[in-house]
Amino acid sequence: MDLADLTRDLEALRGDALASIDAASDAATLEALELDVLGKKGRVTTVLRGSGALPAEDRTKVDAIANTVRQAIEEALAERGTTLRGSELQTRLAAEAVDVTTPGRPIRRGTLHPSIESMRQIAEIFGQFGFVPYESPEIEDDVTNFQMLNIPPDHPARDLWDTLYVDVEGQLLRTHTSPGQIRVMQTEKPPIRALLPGRCFRYEAIDASHGSEFFQVEGLMIDEGTTMADLKGLLDQFAKAMYGADKKTRFRPGYYPFTEPSVAFDVECLVCGGIGCPACGRSGWMTILGAGMVHPVVLQYGGLDPERYQGFAFGMGPERIKMLKHGITDLRLFLENDLRFLEQFR
Ligand code: PHE
Repeated sequence: MDLADLTRDLEALRGDALASIDAASDAATLEALELDVLGKKGRVTTVLRGSGALPAEDRTKVDAIANTVRQAIEEALAERGTTLRGSELQTRLAAEAVDVTTPGRPIRRGTLHPSIESMRQIAEIFGQFGFVPYESPEIEDDVTNFQMLNIPPDHPARDLWDTLYVDVEGQLLRTHTSPGQIRVMQTEKPPIRALLPGRCFRYEAIDASHGSEFFQVEGLMIDEGTTMADLKGLLDQFAKAMYGADKKTRFRPGYYPFTEPSVAFDVECLVCGGIGCPACGRSGWMTILGAGMVHPVVLQYGGLDPERYQGFAFGMGPERIKMLKHGITDLRLFLENDLRFLEQFR
């Protein structure tokens, strides 16, 4: 090996390396090439190993040539690397491109169940009169569901509420939200303005207007000097807020053991406006709830002195309230989970 041989080998290596670099099609190949040519055990090092035997003067020359070769290869590597990375990016960008003009997938939006929505509307209206929502248990005891509401065992009025009993002596599924009246009276001091929304259960033959499971919203107001006129004014405002400010309302005598006097509260027929049509049984009126002045015996069971306090209570079915509003004629729709029905209340 002399200077000429080494120079030739280095030049050949340069030509070979540059051609390979040019031909490399990806960054990984390029990296492998760099290691193979310039690495510690690479081809340049191998060639230079032959320079050990040369005179010092020639060695300097070989080193100088080796440096230019290395530099040329490094530059070629860098340049090709830039080109390859650029086109790899282009390929990725093209492959991962998002077509922003494609129509999006619609997100299915849920809705409140119409029973729940109705209860919220009711709570919102009464909330403006200072009524505050309370909770009361769905599994109730006979004493609170009936006896403290002035319905003793064996009283014929029990027939008004066909009851589902549970497997525990004295316990039942509440047939109405009225036992909540007792629970609120026992825990709160007057003045009381309570709203008790909740699920109720009855042993019923199911038809278009009866369910074995339904909601009620109970209202209770107790204070000194509360009168039937307060009840009438409040319910009239409620009906106007729910069905329209022009709607007429009326009280009709009713019967509940826990209110005295008791009333049925009617709004003018929302279909015919009071003329009389099949929807209102030709009466011109639709009954929306039951109400009355809290019976003194019930006040006593609630721990309140009937000589000092008076109050009224009302109870309504939120499903019925909504049925009247939208002309729905079958209560069963509320329990069937048919989206075609439920989605109409968005
Ligand atoms: N609890 C009665 C029912 O279920 C409704 C009602 C509540 C009536 C409050 C008067 C006062 O039918």
